[in-house]
Amino acid sequence: MVYLDYNATTPVDPAVLKAMAPFWNEYFINPSSPYLEADTARAAVAEARQSLAGLLGAATDEVVFTSGGTESDNWALRGGVSSWHGQRRRLLISAFEHPAVAETAAALGAEGMEVAIIPVDQRGVIVLEALDTLLDERTAVVSVMLANNEIGTVQPVAAIVEKAHAVGALVHTDAAQAVGKIPVDVRALGVDLLTVAGHKLYAPKGIGALYIRRGVRLPPLLAGGGQEGGRRSGTENVPGIVGLGAAAGLARNWLMQGGAERQAALRDRFEEKLLREIPGIVIFGQEAARLPNTAAFAIAGWRGAELLAACPSVQAATGSACHHPDDAGSPVIRALGYPAEVARRLVRVSLGRSTGAEEVVQAAAALLAAARSRSS
Ligand SMILES: Cc1ncc(COP(=O)(O)O)c(C=O)c1O
Repeated sequence: MVYLDYNATTPVDPAVLKAMAPFWNEYFINPSSPYLEADTARAAVAEARQSLAGLLGAATDEVVFTSGGTESDNWALRGGVSSWHGQRRRLLISAFEHPAVAETAAALGAEGMEVAIIPVDQRGVIVLEALDTLLDERTAVVSVMLANNEIGTVQPVAAIVEKAHAVGALVHTDAAQAVGKIPVDVRALGVDLLTVAGHKLYAPKGIGALYIRRGVRLPPLLAGGGQEGGRRSGTENVPGIVGLGAAAGLARNWLMQGGAERQAALRDRFEEKLLREIPGIVIFGQEAARLPNTAAFAIAGWRGAELLAACPSVQAATGSACHHPDDAGSPVIRALGYPAEVARRLVRVSLGRSTGAEEVVQAAAALLAAARSRSS
């Protein structure tokens, strides 16, 4: 079995697990407790915050821990909109956001916000010029993901920020798929809000963070005991936070040691093999800047789900793990302008840091054999 679905989730790295271990029972104490022993938990949370801030190029007071990507996205959109106190009522999102953003925007639309969609081109990149007509001084928040979860294309977020800030709008980017795979620097991007999801970078599920640029006053999503400086109530998930801090340190090292470049070379080899052997294969996002680990493709005559069923030794995806593609196929591929017939063919292969050349060769061979089985 070859696991190639790291965009859906990653295993917890053994070093992350080790860092978390004492915080389940030995140092179980509530970090808000008044006695001295709580210092250990408080210090561990502070250290984790520093580590994640370091990975993102942020200050420590700009990082708030949450329960994951979904909460961070919900908070960024709802908080960002309500920070305008009704003065601005327009929300812009791209045509291929993750449901955590798209469904929140739809809910805000039902509550009376005006939601506009930024189109994406066939390469898998937002149409930047569309912002010139969509953006104006009624715009409260612009939310465009940093890297697409299904095809891995990286969006021109710094350029979006430049345009959005010119009309005073806040910019959020969902970086759930980007953090830990490519360098992400909040200052270089210039964003106001940025989502991190722990389980995409070898931390556990159920932990994440929202970067909130200093000076941006985001009303809390969760009211309660006032943890996280009053910004996110709820007793801190200390083991999860420690895990995310440790994972951020590992990600930094991996990136510094050229991990992303090695991974992109493997992914490219995989794609070259398929391109050589399968006539008419479409590889999505190949003409754009992409995550180094993602290969998304369509093979004529095969629905993605059928191809993967014919190839049980490869664990891959037919799109986002968060929704089951129905007859309309992947909404991401549809957003690129492809018909449903092509969108239904999507297969997403996503490599992890430990994926080796052998696994990639084995997976390509298995997919090829399956793809040929129908024509023979
Ligand atoms: C782009 C993107 N945003 C948000 C999420 C949701 O994150 P979580 O699973 O931590 O709630 C995911 C996870 O699939 C994602 O890929």
